[in-house]
Amino acid sequence: MPDWLLYTGSRRTHDGIDRLPPPPPWRAFDGEPVLEPPSGGSENEHQATTYRPSDDAVQQVNAALYLRRPLLVTGPPGTGKSTLAYAVAHELGLGRVLHWPITSRTTLRDGLYQYDPLTRLYAAGRHDAEGRRGRAGRDGAPSEEDIGRYIRLGPLGTALLPYRRPRVLLVDEIDKSDIDLPNDLLTIFEKGEYELPELTRRAEPDAEVMTADGPGARVTVTAGTVRCRAFPLVVMTSNGEREFPPAFIRRCVTVELRQPVDGEELAAIVREHLGPLADQSDDLVRRFFERSASGTLATDQLLNAVYLCRHADTEDRRALADRIMPYLTGPVDDDE
Ligand SMILES: Nc1ncnc2c1ncn2[C@@H]1O[C@H](COP(=O)(O)OP(=O)(O)O)[C@@H](O)[C@H]1O
Ligand SMILES: [Mg+2]
Repeated sequence: MPDWLLYTGSRRTHDGIDRLPPPPPWRAFDGEPVLEPPSGGSENEHQATTYRPSDDAVQQVNAALYLRRPLLVTGPPGTGKSTLAYAVAHELGLGRVLHWPITSRTTLRDGLYQYDPLTRLYAAGRHDAEGRRGRAGRDGAPSEEDIGRYIRLGPLGTALLPYRRPRVLLVDEIDKSDIDLPNDLLTIFEKGEYELPELTRRAEPDAEVMTADGPGARVTVTAGTVRCRAFPLVVMTSNGEREFPPAFIRRCVTVELRQPVDGEELAAIVREHLGPLADQSDDLVRRFFERSASGTLATDQLLNAVYLCRHADTEDRRALADRIMPYLTGPVDDDE
């Protein structure tokens, strides 16, 4: 394993991230005050600890970490694009993955933060009414100072907090987005910072806002500006439903994931997930390859088929497997 690789695909947690050299001068960020990532293990542990990345994926994850650039992961459904983010977070001990699923309605602002002025107004109204009844100053009474209770940073906004170590941000299925989102995102990633205009206008510089890590996690934002320190590992996945502008590609590290082409690798993935349940699954792995010649199948369909065929006592494992592995694209299953 070459020395420069911090993420190796070993599936065991280690402190390799401590060897990450300082950023190239054009990607250095100095946000303050430095934050420690919230404690708590990584989720999706099964997926993370069974993931077998391609050599390409390992190399490009490391390139993204060194260069402080977002990683654009493309490939057909089920090739492990989303799982890659969880696997890296788990191996490098980078904590919870900040998951941002993208739809055609997602805006940049959704990812950065949400401000709920109505609840704040309502709370202020109640406070005034109580004040008139002579009960001002009670617990939780809203004022200029607690505007932060009505602001919650989104996954993107949280990833850009000045953490000492990179957080992992999964921008999932970015090809589903509105046409402007990729470029809007690039601007933010170039600057490594964003503003919350609701906070910049206030007399009091500090506000304690909520984050995407849950209601208990609050951080102080000063002067309405958030600036990162360790640039996050941004994993953007795409099923290829859309082309991205050249300017976008140029600022990303890219990697394309493919369905395993040799049976050995696929069998190893099945064993990794299912242990002894994977014994005698060679015929299903072979069937997966035969079928995938005429339409798209995803690795998790094979995993489901192997699992079910081990438990279902039917003579016709092949027919059962075929029903569990319908084509995602390609021929419609009406000939069998
Ligand atoms: N290289 C791999 N090694 C182990 N498991 C894999 C691999 N690729 C895909 N999988 C499994 O296949 C399923 C689909 O992966 P996922 O990351 O959701 O795919 P995608 O995001 O590309 O659609 C997951 O259960 C994952 O664990
Ligand atoms: Mg996915």
